[in-house]
Amino acid sequence: MPNGLPIVRFFRGTEIIGSVTANPGDPLVDVAEMAGVDIPTNCTSGNCGTCLVRLISGEVEMPSVLPPGLDEDLVSEGGILTCCITPNGDCDIDVIPPL
Ligand code: FES
Repeated sequence: MPNGLPIVRFFRGTEIIGSVTANPGDPLVDVAEMAGVDIPTNCTSGNCGTCLVRLISGEVEMPSVLPPGLDEDLVSEGGILTCCITPNGDCDIDVIPPL
């Protein structure tokens, strides 16, 4: 994490498809776009689950109350919603949803 900014890497399965230094406070879907990775979105407010991906490793800022598009089962599989979750440090993300 040089300069205190998180480095976020995006994978499809085992293949790395993008890597970028995230700006503070940017939701992961914007970080992905900067890395040239297109993650589909719909509601952009945590409700629909369209932007679901799997956190392979690293830390993200999880909301204290899970948004409607997430549940405990998804979270236990590493599921995160990129439209409303920001990186808290270096992260590896699999753009294949967990389920
Ligand atoms: S786009 Fe709907 S939950 Fe992220």
